[in-house]
Amino acid sequence: MASTRRDILLLENIHEESEPALRTAGIKIRREAGTLEDAALLDALGTTSMIGIRSRTQMTASVIDRADSLEAIACFCIGTNQVDLDAAARRGIAVFNSPFCNTRSVAEMTIAEIIGLHRGLFDKNSAMHQGRWDKSAVNSHEVRGRTLGIVGYGHIGSQVSVLAEALGMRVIYHDIVPKMPMGNAQAVNSLKELLAASDVVTLHVPETTDTHNLIASGALKRMKDGAVLINNSRGSVVDLEALADAVKSGRIRGAAIDVYPSEPRSSADSFQCAVSGLPGVILTPHIGGSTEEAQIAIAREVAMKLVAFQERGTTTSAVNIPEVELPHRREGQDRILHFHHNVPGVLSKMHTILAEGGVNIHAEYLQSTGELSYVILDVDHLDDDTVLQRFDAMEETIRLRLLA
Ligand code: NAI
Repeated sequence: MASTRRDILLLENIHEESEPALRTAGIKIRREAGTLEDAALLDALGTTSMIGIRSRTQMTASVIDRADSLEAIACFCIGTNQVDLDAAARRGIAVFNSPFCNTRSVAEMTIAEIIGLHRGLFDKNSAMHQGRWDKSAVNSHEVRGRTLGIVGYGHIGSQVSVLAEALGMRVIYHDIVPKMPMGNAQAVNSLKELLAASDVVTLHVPETTDTHNLIASGALKRMKDGAVLINNSRGSVVDLEALADAVKSGRIRGAAIDVYPSEPRSSADSFQCAVSGLPGVILTPHIGGSTEEAQIAIAREVAMKLVAFQERGTTTSAVNIPEVELPHRREGQDRILHFHHNVPGVLSKMHTILAEGGVNIHAEYLQSTGELSYVILDVDHLDDDTVLQRFDAMEETIRLRLLA
């Protein structure tokens, strides 16, 4: 039957900035500090309608299929790999995340690394801690006037562009999609051209088959002698063995790497990669986007998406189900939210049921993707459960919710 519950289970110490918006919307919050698995997760969920997780909680098909009351999974993070998105879609469960809240954090770290690499800051810091006073200007440079080549001019790449120009760098970029340049940045025609012209190459592309080992020995050979490479995007984009060879030979003067082909699962695990221990190489543990500010922004953004979903049925920016942006419900009207199998005839059945119940439709919204359709009907106030019971009994119905 159509659910009207408004509650959420928050796991993994989700930032408290998520709470004000949820509470204002009347959503009851329960918390568990860590993550939970399988039976314990289902137990804790009970009849809760929403769950908030970060990257460690695995929402497998087996959990999703047994979580009868679940209507939304909120990933208070960037990725959604920890959720079986198809299983959630099959059950009409919306999955939300926050893909771009840490854009600025990654851009700022990239700028810090550009300067750090040009001044040898990290190696000098290590030397000082080991008691060595190596006061020298050799191989130390201002970044002003140097050329920065940005590969992937999306959210992060374009922010780096703006910040780098403010430092007086000349910015060029390459993207597979035509992108509007920020400030005085200039697009180049190919990756080859960018590599040959840049003092710093910074990568901000997604992980795709095309970007797999995008920077391997061939690309490294095309880079200017003494240039530096920064990869804060995805571990699969750079061939670290080839980079190690290029750094050892002195062709590439240094690198900053935040992401790796294989990353430890927890902070307790040790770490080693092909460029570990090489001078001029900055290694960070995938923290490009990890700042307090990003966590706060993520908490607020995901909470807002949940509130819009709970209050209006809005699924805008859900990653696995049809996206529908909905206005507020009008006074005196009820809103029926109906996920169903995307087959012919469902709307006509629903219209017939409403007509037979003498219920007028004031507004109707529909969006389908693949095998799933989401229809929203703003109707006269329903005096009893008859219409909903008949909707529920339709063989195409996956999930039904009433906002009254
Ligand atoms: P975005 O989707 O806004 O931008 C990516 C850009 O790369 C797009 O403009 C796209 O057209 C372009 N692109 C795709 N394939 C390309 C190719 N073969 N050659 C050139 N350009 C190509 O993504 P956003 O938010 O800027 O993120 C960029 C990368 O940073 C992603 O891989 C993301 O996972 C990673 N990231 C890393 C973080 C960290 O902690 N180190 C945190 C956040 C994001």
